[in-house]
Amino acid sequence: MELTLSGKNAIVTGGGSNIGRSIALTLAEEGANIALFDIDEVAALGVIQEAKEAGAVGNLAAFATDLTDRQQVEASVGRVVEKFEQIDILINCAGGDQAGPFLDQPPELHRKLVDLNYMSVVHCMHTVLPHMVERGYGRVVSLASDAGRMGEYHEAVYSGAKAGVIALTKSLAREVGRHDVTLNVVCPGLTIPEDPEAVPETSMLWAGDAIDFWTPERRASASRRYALRRLGTAQDVANVVVFLASDRCNFVTGQTWSVSGGYTMM
Ligand SMILES: NC(=O)c1ccc[n+]([C@@H]2O[C@H](COP(=O)([O-])OP(=O)(O)OC[C@H]3O[C@@H](n4cnc5c(N)ncnc54)[C@H](O)[C@@H]3O)[C@@H](O)[C@H]2O)c1
Repeated sequence: MELTLSGKNAIVTGGGSNIGRSIALTLAEEGANIALFDIDEVAALGVIQEAKEAGAVGNLAAFATDLTDRQQVEASVGRVVEKFEQIDILINCAGGDQAGPFLDQPPELHRKLVDLNYMSVVHCMHTVLPHMVERGYGRVVSLASDAGRMGEYHEAVYSGAKAGVIALTKSLAREVGRHDVTLNVVCPGLTIPEDPEAVPETSMLWAGDAIDFWTPERRASASRRYALRRLGTAQDVANVVVFLASDRCNFVTGQTWSVSGGYTMM
């Protein structure tokens, strides 16, 4: 089944690492043109190189962007419009956490987590949606987390921000649906690469409690909470994100899909 993504123009935020990297590589494999927005330009350029080596035929570009800074988002979106003329797909993937006990965390960390996990998505939506609405077409997929659906131990502010992404998506889906713009959310469960070498320093996987999951023992014990008895891979998540971004899902909007091997069922 073809996904009809050939020649589509896609922005992927956080495309330099793990899930964003797999989304970018899968979109590129499907023939889309990709603009990667990442604070880590070296990591994003590395992913572009990987896509080229895998035979990608589309236009691929990296834009160093701190997504928590509205002006930087505006500048990068402006450059994408100059280069690609129009934006068909927006994947809001950048995010991160520094898991730990809420009562021990400083307020500055709370601000940072809300800026990274929620305000970055607001900035991207507010900057990209006008182009999609004007043209009468757009596909937006945002990464939240099962933590945003059910709450998670030691991830209070992150969970709240991800719940915000879900509600923001549903609200905007109602506002812009009449312009053939769809917005959906994908919630991964634990998605930790086997190879730590493949993960840049900026990854959330090096911060707070997440570091524990690098040991085989912790991975095995975490897997027991998943109906499919394994942790997800970045490719598991990318497959669903790319499907939702394709015209195969033209009549799906305002939905939240967990890709977590049966960790949550709702
Ligand atoms: N990995 C998991 O277990 C997991 C589970 C549930 C949800 N998620 C969500 O999925 C998404 C991707 O997760 P991941 O594991 O690939 O994350 P990751 O930390 O490996 O990658 C995030 C990317 O975002 C970039 N980034 C960080 N701060 C940025 C900023 N201010 N501006 C621009 N770019 C920035 C990083 O450089 C990195 O390339 C996130 O939204 C995350 O919250 C991940």
